Amino acid sequence: MKQRSTMLAALVAASAMAAGAAHANGLVVGFSQIGSESGWRAAETTVTRQDAKKNGDTVKIADAQQKQENQIKALRSFIAQGVDGIFLAPVVATGWTQVLTEAKDAKIPVILLDRDIDPSGKSLYLTAVTSDSTHEGTVAGEWLAKTVGSKPCNIVEIEGTVGASVAANRKKGFDDVVAQHSNMKISRSETGDFTRSQGKQVMESFIKAENGGKGICAVYAHNDDMMIGAIQAMKEAGLKPGTDILTVSVDSVPDMFKALMAHEANATVELTPDMAGPAFVALAAYKSKGTVPPKWIETKSVLHTSADSDLQQIYDQKKDLGY
Ligand code: AHR
Repeated sequence: MKQRSTMLAALVAASAMAAGAAHANGLVVGFSQIGSESGWRAAETTVTRQDAKKNGDTVKIADAQQKQENQIKALRSFIAQGVDGIFLAPVVATGWTQVLTEAKDAKIPVILLDRDIDPSGKSLYLTAVTSDSTHEGTVAGEWLAKTVGSKPCNIVEIEGTVGASVAANRKKGFDDVVAQHSNMKISRSETGDFTRSQGKQVMESFIKAENGGKGICAVYAHNDDMMIGAIQAMKEAGLKPGTDILTVSVDSVPDMFKALMAHEANATVELTPDMAGPAFVALAAYKSKGTVPPKWIETKSVLHTSADSDLQQIYDQKKDLGY
Protein backbone atom coordinates (compact mmCIF):
# COMPACT_ATOMS: atom_id res chain seq x y z
CA MET A 1 0.00 0.00 0.00
CA LYS A 2 2.82 2.36 1.06
CA GLN A 3 4.79 1.46 -2.12
CA ARG A 4 1.71 2.13 -4.34
CA SER A 5 1.11 5.55 -2.83
CA THR A 6 4.82 6.42 -3.27
CA MET A 7 4.56 5.40 -6.94
CA LEU A 8 1.40 7.46 -7.31
CA ALA A 9 3.10 10.48 -5.76
CA ALA A 10 6.03 10.04 -8.17
CA LEU A 11 3.60 9.84 -11.11
CA VAL A 12 1.76 12.97 -9.99
CA ALA A 13 5.08 14.79 -9.62
CA ALA A 14 6.23 13.64 -13.07
CA SER A 15 3.04 14.76 -14.78
CA ALA A 16 3.16 18.09 -12.93
CA MET A 17 6.70 18.55 -14.25
CA ALA A 18 5.58 17.62 -17.75
CA ALA A 19 2.71 20.12 -17.50
CA GLY A 20 5.22 22.73 -16.34
CA ALA A 21 7.42 21.97 -19.31
CA ALA A 22 4.43 22.31 -21.63
CA HIS A 23 3.82 25.79 -20.23
CA ALA A 24 7.38 26.85 -20.92
CA ASN A 25 7.70 28.39 -24.38
CA GLY A 26 10.85 26.47 -25.25
CA LEU A 27 11.69 28.86 -28.09
CA VAL A 28 15.21 29.41 -29.33
CA VAL A 29 15.85 33.06 -30.07
CA GLY A 30 18.92 34.65 -31.62
CA PHE A 31 19.58 38.16 -30.34
CA SER A 32 21.89 40.42 -32.31
CA GLN A 33 22.90 42.93 -29.64
CA ILE A 34 24.73 46.14 -30.58
CA GLY A 35 27.52 45.83 -28.01
CA SER A 36 28.11 47.16 -24.52
CA GLU A 37 28.62 50.84 -25.23
CA SER A 38 26.56 52.00 -22.26
CA GLY A 39 25.28 50.94 -18.85
CA TRP A 40 21.80 50.85 -20.35
CA ARG A 41 22.91 48.45 -23.09
CA ALA A 42 24.57 46.10 -20.56
CA ALA A 43 21.36 46.15 -18.51
CA GLU A 44 19.29 45.28 -21.57
CA THR A 45 21.50 42.23 -22.21
CA THR A 46 21.17 41.10 -18.57
CA VAL A 47 17.40 41.59 -18.51
CA THR A 48 17.00 39.72 -21.83
CA ARG A 49 18.78 36.70 -20.32
CA GLN A 50 16.55 36.91 -17.23
CA ASP A 51 13.40 37.15 -19.40
CA ALA A 52 14.41 34.11 -21.47
CA LYS A 53 14.98 32.07 -18.32
CA LYS A 54 11.64 33.15 -16.83
CA ASN A 55 9.79 32.10 -20.00
CA GLY A 56 11.64 28.82 -20.47
CA ASP A 57 13.16 30.10 -23.72
CA THR A 58 16.76 29.99 -24.88
CA VAL A 59 18.48 33.14 -26.07
CA LYS A 60 21.73 33.14 -28.06
CA ILE A 61 23.30 36.57 -27.82
CA ALA A 62 25.76 37.82 -30.44
CA ASP A 63 27.65 40.98 -29.46
CA ALA A 64 28.25 43.07 -32.60
CA GLN A 65 30.85 45.43 -31.07
CA GLN A 66 28.79 48.30 -32.49
CA LYS A 67 29.33 47.20 -36.10
CA GLN A 68 26.46 46.66 -38.53
CA GLU A 69 28.51 44.15 -40.55
CA ASN A 70 28.79 41.96 -37.43
CA GLN A 71 25.04 42.21 -36.91
CA ILE A 72 24.40 41.11 -40.50
CA LYS A 73 26.77 38.13 -40.02
CA ALA A 74 25.01 37.19 -36.76
CA LEU A 75 21.60 37.35 -38.44
CA ARG A 76 22.81 35.06 -41.24
CA SER A 77 24.19 32.62 -38.68
CA PHE A 78 20.86 32.61 -36.77
CA ILE A 79 19.01 31.96 -40.05
CA ALA A 80 21.37 29.05 -40.85
CA GLN A 81 20.73 27.61 -37.37
CA GLY A 82 16.97 27.77 -37.95
CA VAL A 83 16.15 29.65 -34.74
CA ASP A 84 12.48 30.27 -33.85
CA GLY A 85 12.88 34.02 -33.89
CA ILE A 86 15.42 36.81 -34.09
CA PHE A 87 15.68 39.90 -31.90
CA LEU A 88 17.62 42.74 -33.51
CA ALA A 89 18.78 45.97 -31.85
CA PRO A 90 19.81 47.77 -35.06
CA VAL A 91 22.88 49.94 -34.54
CA VAL A 92 21.86 52.15 -37.48
CA ALA A 93 18.55 52.61 -39.27
CA THR A 94 19.51 51.78 -42.86
CA GLY A 95 21.08 48.85 -44.71
CA TRP A 96 18.87 46.00 -43.45
CA THR A 97 16.72 45.16 -46.49
CA GLN A 98 18.80 42.26 -47.87
CA VAL A 99 19.36 40.34 -44.63
CA LEU A 100 15.83 40.90 -43.32
CA THR A 101 14.48 39.61 -46.65
CA GLU A 102 16.60 36.48 -46.11
CA ALA A 103 15.05 36.02 -42.65
CA LYS A 104 11.57 36.53 -44.10
CA ASP A 105 12.21 33.99 -46.87
CA ALA A 106 13.36 31.51 -44.18
CA LYS A 107 10.08 32.27 -42.29
CA ILE A 108 11.94 33.44 -39.21
CA PRO A 109 10.17 36.35 -37.52
CA VAL A 110 12.36 39.30 -36.59
CA ILE A 111 11.54 41.63 -33.70
CA LEU A 112 13.35 44.97 -33.39
CA LEU A 113 14.45 45.98 -29.91
CA ASP A 114 15.02 49.57 -28.71
CA ARG A 115 15.92 51.10 -32.09
CA ASP A 116 14.03 51.39 -35.34
CA ILE A 117 14.96 50.88 -38.98
CA ASP A 118 14.08 52.93 -42.03
CA PRO A 119 10.26 52.91 -42.62
CA SER A 120 10.77 51.18 -46.00
CA GLY A 121 11.70 48.02 -44.04
CA LYS A 122 8.39 47.82 -42.16
CA SER A 123 7.14 44.69 -43.92
CA LEU A 124 10.36 42.84 -43.05
CA TYR A 125 9.88 42.57 -39.29
CA LEU A 126 7.07 41.35 -37.05
CA THR A 127 7.05 44.15 -34.51
CA ALA A 128 9.33 46.72 -32.87
CA VAL A 129 9.56 47.09 -29.10
CA THR A 130 10.86 50.62 -28.58
CA SER A 131 10.18 53.82 -26.71
CA ASP A 132 9.02 56.96 -28.49
CA SER A 133 12.50 58.43 -28.75
CA THR A 134 11.27 61.70 -30.31
CA HIS A 135 9.09 62.14 -27.24
CA GLU A 136 12.14 61.54 -25.00
CA GLY A 137 13.84 64.50 -26.69
CA THR A 138 10.67 66.57 -26.25
CA VAL A 139 10.45 65.70 -22.54
CA ALA A 140 14.13 66.67 -22.08
CA GLY A 141 13.61 69.95 -23.96
CA GLU A 142 10.44 70.84 -22.07
CA TRP A 143 12.11 70.19 -18.73
CA LEU A 144 14.95 72.55 -19.71
CA ALA A 145 12.60 75.23 -21.06
CA LYS A 146 10.61 75.16 -17.82
CA THR A 147 13.77 75.23 -15.69
CA VAL A 148 15.41 78.22 -17.42
CA GLY A 149 12.17 80.18 -17.86
CA SER A 150 12.85 83.35 -19.83
CA LYS A 151 16.63 83.44 -19.12
CA PRO A 152 18.93 83.15 -22.15
CA CYS A 153 20.28 79.63 -22.42
CA ASN A 154 23.13 78.50 -24.65
CA ILE A 155 22.93 74.69 -24.98
CA VAL A 156 25.56 72.20 -26.09
CA GLU A 157 24.40 68.81 -27.30
CA ILE A 158 26.20 65.45 -27.23
CA GLU A 159 24.57 63.20 -29.80
CA GLY A 160 24.34 59.42 -29.95
CA THR A 161 25.65 57.16 -32.71
CA VAL A 162 25.44 58.73 -36.17
CA GLY A 163 22.71 56.98 -38.18
CA ALA A 164 20.97 55.46 -35.14
CA SER A 165 17.21 56.07 -35.07
CA VAL A 166 17.24 57.07 -31.40
CA ALA A 167 19.96 59.68 -31.97
CA ALA A 168 18.05 61.29 -34.85
CA ASN A 169 14.75 61.20 -32.94
CA ARG A 170 16.10 62.46 -29.61
CA LYS A 171 17.68 65.35 -31.52
CA LYS A 172 14.47 66.16 -33.37
CA GLY A 173 12.24 66.10 -30.26
CA PHE A 174 14.63 68.39 -28.38
CA ASP A 175 15.32 70.75 -31.34
CA ASP A 176 11.59 71.25 -31.87
CA VAL A 177 11.15 72.49 -28.29
CA VAL A 178 14.20 74.77 -28.52
CA ALA A 179 12.82 76.26 -31.75
CA GLN A 180 9.74 77.37 -29.81
CA HIS A 181 11.78 79.38 -27.26
CA SER A 182 13.64 82.45 -28.51
CA ASN A 183 15.81 82.57 -25.35
CA MET A 184 17.20 79.06 -26.02
CA LYS A 185 19.71 78.08 -28.68
CA ILE A 186 21.94 75.09 -29.41
CA SER A 187 25.42 76.43 -30.15
CA ARG A 188 27.30 73.13 -30.54
CA SER A 189 26.33 69.60 -31.38
CA GLU A 190 28.67 66.61 -31.80
CA THR A 191 28.45 62.84 -31.57
CA GLY A 192 29.78 60.99 -28.51
CA ASP A 193 28.70 57.62 -29.95
CA PHE A 194 26.73 56.81 -26.76
CA THR A 195 29.95 56.11 -24.80
CA ARG A 196 31.21 57.61 -21.57
CA SER A 197 34.74 58.23 -22.87
CA GLN A 198 33.59 60.05 -26.02
CA GLY A 199 31.03 62.04 -24.03
CA LYS A 200 33.90 63.27 -21.87
CA GLN A 201 36.09 64.15 -24.88
CA VAL A 202 33.28 66.05 -26.63
CA MET A 203 32.47 68.01 -23.46
CA GLU A 204 36.14 68.89 -23.00
CA SER A 205 36.21 70.40 -26.48
CA PHE A 206 32.93 72.28 -25.85
CA ILE A 207 34.33 73.72 -22.60
CA LYS A 208 37.47 74.87 -24.38
CA ALA A 209 35.49 76.47 -27.20
CA GLU A 210 33.03 78.17 -24.83
CA ASN A 211 35.32 80.28 -22.65
CA GLY A 212 36.18 77.53 -20.16
CA GLY A 213 32.50 76.55 -19.97
CA LYS A 214 31.36 80.04 -18.93
CA GLY A 215 29.37 80.38 -22.13
CA ILE A 216 27.37 77.19 -21.54
CA CYS A 217 24.02 77.21 -19.75
CA ALA A 218 23.06 73.56 -20.28
CA VAL A 219 24.20 70.29 -21.79
CA TYR A 220 21.83 67.82 -23.40
CA ALA A 221 23.24 64.32 -23.97
CA HIS A 222 21.39 61.60 -25.86
CA ASN A 223 22.30 59.13 -23.10
CA ASP A 224 23.39 59.09 -19.47
CA ASP A 225 26.78 57.50 -20.08
CA MET A 226 27.87 60.38 -22.29
CA MET A 227 26.54 62.77 -19.64
CA ILE A 228 28.51 61.02 -16.91
CA GLY A 229 31.63 61.53 -19.05
CA ALA A 230 30.61 65.17 -19.54
CA ILE A 231 30.14 65.63 -15.78
CA GLN A 232 33.68 64.37 -15.27
CA ALA A 233 34.95 66.86 -17.88
CA MET A 234 33.13 69.73 -16.14
CA LYS A 235 34.59 68.79 -12.76
CA GLU A 236 38.11 68.54 -14.18
CA ALA A 237 37.65 72.04 -15.66
CA GLY A 238 36.74 73.37 -12.21
CA LEU A 239 33.03 73.72 -12.99
CA LYS A 240 30.13 72.56 -10.85
CA PRO A 241 27.93 70.30 -13.00
CA GLY A 242 24.25 70.61 -12.10
CA THR A 243 24.83 74.15 -10.77
CA ASP A 244 27.10 76.06 -13.18
CA ILE A 245 25.82 74.03 -16.11
CA LEU A 246 22.43 72.28 -16.16
CA THR A 247 22.27 68.69 -17.40
CA VAL A 248 19.54 66.62 -19.01
CA SER A 249 19.99 63.21 -20.63
CA VAL A 250 18.22 59.91 -21.35
CA ASP A 251 18.30 56.35 -19.87
CA SER A 252 18.17 56.66 -16.05
CA VAL A 253 21.03 54.27 -15.31
CA PRO A 254 22.05 53.82 -11.63
CA ASP A 255 25.17 56.01 -12.03
CA MET A 256 22.93 58.85 -13.18
CA PHE A 257 20.80 58.39 -10.06
CA LYS A 258 23.99 58.73 -7.99
CA ALA A 259 24.78 61.98 -9.86
CA LEU A 260 21.21 63.27 -9.32
CA MET A 261 21.41 62.50 -5.60
CA ALA A 262 24.77 64.31 -5.43
CA HIS A 263 23.17 67.27 -7.32
CA GLU A 264 25.82 66.93 -10.03
CA ALA A 265 23.11 66.26 -12.62
CA ASN A 266 19.62 67.68 -12.97
CA ALA A 267 17.35 65.43 -15.03
CA THR A 268 17.14 62.13 -16.91
CA VAL A 269 14.40 60.58 -19.03
CA GLU A 270 13.98 56.89 -18.22
CA LEU A 271 14.25 54.21 -20.88
CA THR A 272 13.36 50.72 -19.68
CA PRO A 273 16.01 48.07 -20.41
CA ASP A 274 13.25 45.45 -20.57
CA MET A 275 12.51 45.48 -24.29
CA ALA A 276 12.83 41.69 -24.53
CA GLY A 277 9.96 40.94 -22.11
CA PRO A 278 7.19 42.11 -24.49
CA ALA A 279 9.17 40.67 -27.44
CA PHE A 280 9.20 37.13 -25.97
CA VAL A 281 5.43 37.37 -25.29
CA ALA A 282 4.71 38.58 -28.84
CA LEU A 283 6.92 35.90 -30.40
CA ALA A 284 5.34 33.09 -28.34
CA ALA A 285 1.80 34.21 -29.29
CA TYR A 286 2.78 34.45 -32.94
CA LYS A 287 4.47 31.05 -33.03
CA SER A 288 1.79 29.17 -31.07
CA LYS A 289 -1.43 30.88 -32.28
CA GLY A 290 -0.41 32.96 -35.27
CA THR A 291 -1.34 36.14 -33.38
CA VAL A 292 0.10 39.12 -35.22
CA PRO A 293 1.18 41.83 -32.75
CA PRO A 294 0.83 45.56 -33.43
CA LYS A 295 3.70 46.89 -35.55
CA TRP A 296 4.93 48.98 -32.61
CA ILE A 297 4.95 47.95 -28.95
CA GLU A 298 5.73 51.19 -27.17
CA THR A 299 7.54 51.33 -23.83
CA LYS A 300 6.94 54.32 -21.58
CA SER A 301 9.37 57.15 -20.77
CA VAL A 302 9.39 58.85 -17.35
CA LEU A 303 11.28 61.98 -16.26
CA HIS A 304 13.38 61.94 -13.06
CA THR A 305 14.94 65.07 -11.61
CA SER A 306 17.32 65.82 -8.75
CA ALA A 307 14.34 67.30 -6.87
CA ASP A 308 12.54 63.92 -6.67
CA SER A 309 12.20 62.25 -3.28
CA ASP A 310 12.32 58.63 -4.53
CA LEU A 311 15.78 58.61 -6.14
CA GLN A 312 17.42 56.29 -3.58
CA GLN A 313 14.52 53.85 -3.81
CA ILE A 314 14.67 53.71 -7.63
CA TYR A 315 18.47 53.39 -7.51
CA ASP A 316 18.15 50.37 -5.18
CA GLN A 317 15.53 48.74 -7.42
CA LYS A 318 17.74 49.19 -10.47
CA LYS A 319 20.74 47.68 -8.69
CA ASP A 320 18.54 44.65 -7.84
CA LEU A 321 17.68 44.30 -11.53
CA GLY A 322 21.33 43.52 -12.24
CA TYR A 323 22.47 46.82 -13.77
O1 AHR B 1 18.94 52.45 -28.26
C1 AHR B 1 18.96 52.82 -26.93
C2 AHR B 1 20.20 53.60 -26.62
O2 AHR B 1 21.34 52.85 -26.94
C3 AHR B 1 20.39 53.96 -25.17
O3 AHR B 1 19.75 55.13 -24.80
C4 AHR B 1 21.87 54.14 -25.13
O4 AHR B 1 22.40 54.18 -23.84
C5 AHR B 1 22.30 52.96 -25.91
O5 AHR B 1 23.56 52.96 -26.34
